[in-house]
Formats: sequence, C-alpha cells, structure tokens
Amino acid sequence: MVRILRVMNTCATTVLLLMILLVLLYSNKQQNISTPQSSANLVWIPSFLHKTFPLSNWQLEKKRVSQNLTARCEQNTMFENVSGFESLSPMFQDFLYYRHCRSFPIILDLPDKCQGDDEPEDVFLLLVIKSSPQNYERREVLRKTWAAERSYKGKVIRRIFIIGTGGSGFEEEKLNKLVMWEHQHYNDILQWDFKDSFFNLTLKQILFLEWMDRSCPQARFLLNGDDDVFAHTDNMVEYLQSLKDNNGRKHLFTGHLLQNAMPKRDPNNKYFIPTQVYDKNFYPPYCGGGGYLLSGYTALVIYKISASVQIIPIDDVYMGMCLAVAKLKPDSHMGVQTLQWHIPSRQVDKNDPCYLKDFLLLHKFLPSDLFFLWQEVRNPKLICSAKA
Ligand SMILES: *[C@@H]1O[C@H](CO)[C@@H](O)[C@H](O)[C@H]1NC(C)=O
Ligand SMILES: *[C@@H]1O[C@H](CO)[C@@H](O)[C@H](O)[C@H]1NC(C)=O
Ligand SMILES: *[C@@H]1O[C@H](CO)[C@@H](O)[C@H](O)[C@H]1NC(C)=O
Repeated sequence: MVRILRVMNTCATTVLLLMILLVLLYSNKQQNISTPQSSANLVWIPSFLHKTFPLSNWQLEKKRVSQNLTARCEQNTMFENVSGFESLSPMFQDFLYYRHCRSFPIILDLPDKCQGDDEPEDVFLLLVIKSSPQNYERREVLRKTWAAERSYKGKVIRRIFIIGTGGSGFEEEKLNKLVMWEHQHYNDILQWDFKDSFFNLTLKQILFLEWMDRSCPQARFLLNGDDDVFAHTDNMVEYLQSLKDNNGRKHLFTGHLLQNAMPKRDPNNKYFIPTQVYDKNFYPPYCGGGGYLLSGYTALVIYKISASVQIIPIDDVYMGMCLAVAKLKPDSHMGVQTLQWHIPSRQVDKNDPCYLKDFLLLHKFLPSDLFFLWQEVRNPKLICSAKA
C-alpha cells in the first residue's frame, strides 16, 4: 500500500514538473515572437547578457563575414581534369577544389597582442598554439601552466591559440560562442572563418603568419606547437638566450628533425598523400609539428615564400617545403621529442618530473598530467638522483 502511494506520488511530481517546463517553454516562445531581434537566436540567452555585450555577438559577426561575397573563394574545377581525380576520396577532392584559397576572414583578432604602452612590445617568445574550438580544457590548463603569459629572466612571453570554426548547427554556435567568451576573458584567441579540420592545418599556419606579419613582426622567437604537448618554456627561454649570435633576426628553425621521409601512399594511413597532391618521392627535411622553435626572422621569410608554394595538407611538411624554397635548413634539437616516446630504460617513466626537467618539449599529455608536471619540474625541492 505504502509502495503504491509512493509510486503515485512520484508520478504526480513528474507530471507537475512537465507542466512547469511546458509553461516555461511556451512563455519563452511568446517572448521571442514579441521581440523580433531575438527570434534569430537558436539558443536562449538570459536577457542581461544581451545587454552587456550587444555587438560582440559571434552570430552577428559570422553573418557579416559570410555574407561578404568578395571575401569568399570560388571552387577551382580545373582539378577535375587531373588524372585519377574521381578515384580520390571526397576529402581530397574538396581539398583540391579549394587548395588555392588562402584568405579567410578573421572572426576574432588580437590587434594589440604585441603592443606595449606607446611602442611595440619586445616579445621574446611568442607561443603559437594550434587548438580547436572543442579543446577548452587543454587551453585552460595551458593558460595556468607552461603557456602562462609572464616574464622569465627578463624576457616577455606571450600566448596565442589559433583556431578555425567547429561543429555544425547548434554545436557550432555553442562552440564558437565559447571561443568568443574565452577571447573576451583572456585575449589569447585568433579565429578565422574556415572549418577547423586536420586538412586545414596548413591554412591555419599561413593565416597565422599573415597575422604575425601585420600585428607582431617584432617577435624574436616563436614556439609553434600543439595544445597537448608539455613545453618547458623556462628552459626554452634559457636556450634561446644562450644563442649568442642570434637575437631573433637570423635564421633558426629547430625541433624534432625528420629527414628523407616519404609521402605515405597507402590510403588508409592518417598521413596519406596522393600523387595528385604531392608527386615527389621524398619530403624535404622538416620538424615534427608537435612543436618546434623558430626565429621571427625565419617566420617572416616563410610567410613571404609561402605565397609561391602550393599548399599540402600536412602542415609541418609544408613548413619544410617553404624552408627548402628559401634555401634555409631546419635543425635538430635533442630536447624536442614529438613522435614516439623513446623510453631508454624500463625504470624511466614518462610522467617522471626528473626525466622531464631537462627537456624542451614532449608530447602527448592529459591536462591533469600537464598541471602536475609543470608544478613538479619547477619545484626547487625536487630531488632527482644523479642517474635520472
Ligand atoms: C569584405 O571582404 C573584403 C576582402 O577580404 C574586405 O576588403 C572588405 O572590407 C569586406 N567587407 C566587409 C563589409 O566586411
Ligand atoms: C577539361 O579538359 C577539357 C578537354 O581538354 C576542356 O574542354 C575543359 O574545359 C577542361 N575543364 C576544365 C574545368 O578545365
Ligand atoms: C577547409 O575549410 C574550408 C572553409 O571552411 C572548407 O570549405 C573545407 O571543406 C575545409 N577543408 C577540409 C578538407 O576540411
């Protein structure tokens, strides 16, 4: 008997809750109809938010940008005549159609990132981190750890995340608003109106270099890397400071050097490249894209030369191609490991701070591990045996 009553009670509560929900939904709808401005919004946003930021609405900006036909790039159908075009996957067909498109409108800009009070700031190390709209947690932990904006040994470190647009429909709107909020809070997001995908990484790289040429040409050195790496930025500053004959105005490009790498011709490989996209048998020397260091000088040289180098979808190889055309060589730095983790002995653990403290960059880590390691490697009380 008690049980039946309890069930009835639960039923009544559910019905009541449902009714409240319906009333709420209905009144919200009524509101939308009565105020024409908000009817375009798919998501319900508390009205006080509308009032605080009426103009920085991502939707408005996106609409303005996508309606600008002069800024759009047309499909190049010439590739349909390339032999074997029909046999390529839709992704590569799409890539070829739009391969020539390099200018995409900027949605979130950082025009004052490298600006001091009256004159351009002397940025020593600019951290340029490839991220995607959905990688919020990674960005959060990087802001608190190795990518924190600060001065170290008197040298200024600044941070930028480079991002396209992600998701579709409601998800797209949600993600891009999230990125917009981050931009307002942290002033560290550059976003362009192109689809953030593995295939568009090279495009992202070129758009960043264009931004740098315009808004931060004085940066002395750059770390270009992924958002899941552990970068020991204190060690990087010390290393870059130790380069006696290079203050950023000479060539430097160093990281995990790959030489005589061959394009993957197996369509099932993640890095597959058909001959229609790259027809040589070898890639020029390049540094693994997980993270590499370069001078501001070299970054600007690559930007200038990139105008004459056809895009291939693998961004780190593309940088190597530009370097080769500019007759500059990438270099190897033992402190950067971006491919396989080489464990020299079974006693060494990837997450051992003693092992990491002398490195410059390693991949890949979870956000919680990054936070832990960043505290530990800089802990003066960290005790490491001579062997580690
Ligand atoms: C449209 O795009 C062109 C080329 O990118 C740009 O010069 C122009 O200012 C844009 N117009 C508007 C209204 O955004
Ligand atoms: C493809 O080739 C044919 C024959 O050579 C030519 O008539 C056609 O215009 C070409 N198509 C494109 C899009 O270039
Ligand atoms: C790259 O971005 C453009 C613009 O958003 C998009 O049309 C294209 O499909 C993307 N390419 C790939 C291969 O994802």
